[in-house]
Amino acid sequence: MHRKPRYFARISGRQIFKNGCVKPLISFIIKEMANPSAPPNPTLKKFTDEERLVWEQKFELKVREADLGSDPAHDLAHFRRVAATAKQLCTEENARWEVVVPAAWMHDLVNVPKNDPKRSLASRLSGQEALKFLRSENYPAEFHAEIQHAIEAHSYSAQIDPTTIEASIVQDADRLDGLGAIGVARCFCVAGLLKRSIYDSVDPFGKARALDDLKFTVDHFYVKLFKVAESLRTHSGKSEGARRAQFMHEFLDQLGAEIGSPLHSE
Ligand SMILES: [Fe+2]
Ligand SMILES: [Fe+2]
Repeated sequence: MHRKPRYFARISGRQIFKNGCVKPLISFIIKEMANPSAPPNPTLKKFTDEERLVWEQKFELKVREADLGSDPAHDLAHFRRVAATAKQLCTEENARWEVVVPAAWMHDLVNVPKNDPKRSLASRLSGQEALKFLRSENYPAEFHAEIQHAIEAHSYSAQIDPTTIEASIVQDADRLDGLGAIGVARCFCVAGLLKRSIYDSVDPFGKARALDDLKFTVDHFYVKLFKVAESLRTHSGKSEGARRAQFMHEFLDQLGAEIGSPLHSE
């Protein structure tokens, strides 16, 4: 005798009306029709070590092919450092590699110079460009939106709050590259390109005047860099940021001693 499949047998009949199951059932069917590709099991893909290696090579190649401009503070080495720091934070924060690493590699894919009025759009443009690339490489679609968000939210000027631990990690990794010894090197590098003085010879640390980092590079430490150290979001990012900020205070101490203008006068 022909029998109804168990699934239909269970949900058909007057019983479902009685138990009020119709509404949830209909919304389930509508959802399935609207999103037929949604996997029945929400478990996200996890790459093997070999897969990670292959993907990282592709990300690096993509960055190498991009027009990075001539700013030594944003050259290939910057991308490598940010990716390395992001991987470190990703492990320490137990976050998702599949989101953190592509976002870290491609966070500055579209280069807009620092003094360009379109600067605040750079991270959005980088997010779009990265997404195009990920689609063309058939990178698992389940991570696309989060990667794009992490790229868009990394930037200081975009003013987008990270909503995931992965986006916080990418933002922290990029900001950490502006701190410590590498941060000092990059800061003076950019200042040189923008033709700014190293410090104000009358009042190097701005003790008795308004700070002006458009003129004096040392002022930028106080106007922005020490604040960046305070803005880090992840636990491991904060502790590394504190170490790097400490080094920067020591650097300014030494600078003051060398130029005959002690940072801390008795
Ligand atoms: Fe950036
Ligand atoms: Fe960056």
